[in-house]
Amino acid sequence: MRSANLTVKMIAVCILALSCVSCGPRMNIQPSVQPFEKQMPVMPSKSTPTTGSFKIIAKQQAKLTSNPLPKTKTNLRNGEIYYGYYCLMCHGAKGDGNGPVGESYVPKPADLSSPNLARLNDGQLYWKMLYGVGHAPVMEQTVLLEHRWPLVMYVRTFAKPKNVNP
Ligand code: HEC
Repeated sequence: MRSANLTVKMIAVCILALSCVSCGPRMNIQPSVQPFEKQMPVMPSKSTPTTGSFKIIAKQQAKLTSNPLPKTKTNLRNGEIYYGYYCLMCHGAKGDGNGPVGESYVPKPADLSSPNLARLNDGQLYWKMLYGVGHAPVMEQTVLLEHRWPLVMYVRTFAKPKNVNP
């Protein structure tokens, strides 16, 4: 009888302990921010396109036959940096498609020095970079608007002189 009493008590203690560990109230007693409780931070301007979707903007940009950015050292250097962010792992440091990630692709990433690309104007290259075979929709959604033209400028440097139209 005694031990049965003890068992009942122990079960009661266990249930109590478990309910304390798992129960909700403690989760609510803590500093927390409820939805809409705080005003959202103001977004920096140009965070979201206001003049059309990204694809509409890209289409407009791709109509340009030559890069709107002046070919300065800074723009070119920025292009190189952005190439390191977005492209190098696949297309390789030399643009030949031999990046460490690119090696597991079938077909391999394009050789950016190829005559096929050299024949394109800047706008067409801009478009292929974002929507070309092997990319869509990833590049369109990844490459920031302000990084695109410097990238086109830098990708142009891979073209072999004999591939470039006079
Ligand atoms: C995840 C790997 C990957 C990344 C990252 C990547 N590419 Fe590619 N790229 C590919 C593959 C795969 C192809 C398709 C090759 C083929 O079909 O022969 C390709 C094709 C291309 C083409 C030719 C497209 C066409 O339609 O002819 C261009 C230009 C290009 N890439 C430029 C870039 C640039 C610039 C970046 C960075 C902004 C980039 N790529 C990032 C994998 C990648």
